[in-house]
Amino acid sequence: MKIVVANWKMNGDCDLVSTFIEKINAVTTTNTIVVCPPVALIGQFKDFRYSIGAQNCFYEDKGAFTGENSPKLLKEVGCEYVIIGHSERRAIFNENDDIVFKKWEAAQKNGLSSIVCIGEKADERADWKSVLQRQTEKFIGKNLGNTIFAYEPVWSIGTGVIPTLGEIAEVLTFIKTKVGESTCCLYGGSVNATNAENILRCNKVDGVLIGGASLKPDEFAKIAMMV
Ligand code: PGA
Repeated sequence: MKIVVANWKMNGDCDLVSTFIEKINAVTTTNTIVVCPPVALIGQFKDFRYSIGAQNCFYEDKGAFTGENSPKLLKEVGCEYVIIGHSERRAIFNENDDIVFKKWEAAQKNGLSSIVCIGEKADERADWKSVLQRQTEKFIGKNLGNTIFAYEPVWSIGTGVIPTLGEIAEVLTFIKTKVGESTCCLYGGSVNATNAENILRCNKVDGVLIGGASLKPDEFAKIAMMV
């Protein structure tokens, strides 16, 4: 059983939600399927058979934080998961490891499963171990039963370039030695219906986080059914 997560980013619309629900509801699998649409579309997923996640949350439950999304309210409207620390949040919205950790704590407090994204940038590739060490450091020794890590090398996101299976296995092994062997670890970055099967067959890989290909319901349905 694997975890297959769709990250729509700031894409999709009500029409895509309808098609997606129709196609994915028809999928029979023991895999865990999670879709993370833009927050404005979450209310359209009432008839979805699988799980919903948010792409981000704030670290406070309520207050004068115009434009932010409360983890408490995300839970209330049906989210079971939340992506935290995606590289786009880190790069465009200046989220550092301290903010990512505070968001994780807030998600935990509200009973949301966190998908914490980590991964090195292109110019950090030779030094990926110290990047991942820094990004996982605060989580070491914490109760991570409700936490999933997603290894997303930034150079692979949206580029069509993926690490070799050996590299993915090596990095996930490294992460698991830090955060615990039983902690779920996903791979993300240019996953599609062609490469997903081999990635999912890797025994260190507990699932995949999919951006671009998750906007194509037929393609996502195929990946969701793979074991
Ligand atoms: P991609 O995005 O599948 O389009 O590379 C993955 C992600 O950013 O989570």
